[in-house]
Amino acid sequence: MSAYALLLIAHLFAAFVFVGTVFFEVLVLERVRRHVPARAMRAVEIGIGRRARQLMPWVVAVLYASGAGMAWRYRDALAHPLAGSFGLLLTIKIALALSVLGHFLFAMRLRGRGRLVAGTFRRIHLSLFCHMAGIVLLAKAMFHLGW
Ligand code: HEM
Repeated sequence: MSAYALLLIAHLFAAFVFVGTVFFEVLVLERVRRHVPARAMRAVEIGIGRRARQLMPWVVAVLYASGAGMAWRYRDALAHPLAGSFGLLLTIKIALALSVLGHFLFAMRLRGRGRLVAGTFRRIHLSLFCHMAGIVLLAKAMFHLGW
């Protein structure tokens, strides 16, 4: 199996853990909140947060490192993003992925200052959800859309 194929498999696994976690939090956990007492929900959220802080740095490292490794193959297209549909869509996908990282750094900074209130936390999750839907769509569209 080629190195590129290994990177792609690592990328795909890391992507489904990362995207799956955010989708679970937005589509499932937010709805469960209505049926669970606030104290119990808070305990669950603390537990999930603790687990996420153990697991996610590794998942994010694999996701971005494998992405960068694969992007090397497309460096010519990335150097001239307006020259073709593939380069443009991949550039937008990478820009969205960098914005996802920005969300994490922003959330960590707010948490460090004790200013990560529930409303902001929810808005960050919703924005991450939209970013990820866009990233997954672009990841496939860049191979199938052309102009
Ligand atoms: C939130 C971060 C990211 C997510 C959720 C994500 C998700 C995905 C998904 C689902 C695919 C399709 C894989 C397949 O169908 O086999 C993909 C492909 C790809 N991603 Fe990412 N990605 C992310 C970040 C990045 C970054 C930072 C880069 C580059 C610096 C990158 C470069 C690529 C490339 C080059 C492909 C095409 C691989 C191929 O099919 O040959 N990704 N990504």
